[in-house]
Amino acid sequence: MKPITVGIVGLGRAGWSLHMEPIIEIPGFKIVSVADPLEERCQEAAERTGCKAFSCTRELLERSEAELVVVASPSLSHHTDAAQVLAAGRHCICEKPMALETDEAFALVAAARERRLGLFVHHTYLHRPQYHHMRAVLESGVLGELFAARVCWAGFNRRWDWQTLRKNGGGQMNNIGSHVLSILLPLLGSRVTDVFADLRNVKDAGDAEDHVEAFLRTETGVTASIVVSTAMALSGPRWALHGTRGAFLSDEKSSTIKCFEPGALADVSVIDAAAPGRQYMSENIPWRETAVEVAPAPVAGFHQNVLDCLLSGVEPIVTPESAAEVVRVTNRILSFRK
Ligand SMILES: NC(=O)c1ccc[n+]([C@@H]2O[C@H](COP(=O)([O-])OP(=O)(O)OC[C@H]3O[C@@H](n4cnc5c(N)ncnc54)[C@H](O)[C@@H]3O)[C@@H](O)[C@H]2O)c1
Repeated sequence: MKPITVGIVGLGRAGWSLHMEPIIEIPGFKIVSVADPLEERCQEAAERTGCKAFSCTRELLERSEAELVVVASPSLSHHTDAAQVLAAGRHCICEKPMALETDEAFALVAAARERRLGLFVHHTYLHRPQYHHMRAVLESGVLGELFAARVCWAGFNRRWDWQTLRKNGGGQMNNIGSHVLSILLPLLGSRVTDVFADLRNVKDAGDAEDHVEAFLRTETGVTASIVVSTAMALSGPRWALHGTRGAFLSDEKSSTIKCFEPGALADVSVIDAAAPGRQYMSENIPWRETAVEVAPAPVAGFHQNVLDCLLSGVEPIVTPESAAEVVRVTNRILSFRK
């Protein structure tokens, strides 16, 4: 079968290592064009793949037949680049965040749907084991009903690149927070309606936040507290899910589930009087605590999934709507920037 022809816009860290190299490995794709204002990067890509090279997206779209175009330019140009790609009738892989403004993100979704084109946002964490592991735990019902989630995606490292400047769409929220939301939002079960957040710059060189704490609540009342930080030298487990019958903690290698069976606790009713015998309530809860290894993801890798969608019409693992929802909640959190 003829391979799907691919163009890549932006040949930096993401465009080269996260797109070009893995795409080369998939026989169903053939890279035919690239675009980057840096000529030496274009030359390097032409030598690596035998493709044509251009200095900008417009030129690539005018002069290359690429059926699928990867937008891996800096975040500020994702929306305009992806909009041009879709307007030219090409399928689009777009780096995250797909847009900096919420209305721009939903406009891209509408454009892709109208033109029946694929719009694949590179939220890679939905292809990795942890998301599927947590989904399986929630769907198994062992925790009862989810009422709260806690994410602590933290560590310590300093940055001084363009991603530390607000004017470039930089900052911890657009950069790492969008990955966190891509995993978390589908687990919460309904749309986030309420948001409170504190964002600050502790140590990065630019003016954008490197430490975010946010509190979300969905329309069905599930809450999520999130820490996304590169300013914390020590932190707790990355994921915690709390349900009406127990809890889940995970560091992404292994997880612990502590829960009790349905009906394991005796019914009780309120004693609205002096505490009998001046005693606090106590009971033996029949906890079951299990350690679970995180199994490999049961889904294809990102680019293979894109190929499957284009060839067989299956739904993408990252739907454009879910990626636009990430932009919406990101912007609710960013509205607390001082
Ligand atoms: N999904 C992920 O895990 C992941 C990881 C890294 C980066 N990203 C995203 O990828 C995007 C690029 O980040 P990066 O780290 O690769 O940046 P980078 O600075 O390493 O590379 C950006 C490249 O784009 C080129 N460029 C600049 N303006 C351009 C334009 N108008 N048209 C075409 N090319 C242009 C630059 O010359 C450079 O080669 C960011 O939006 C970032 O959020 C995503």
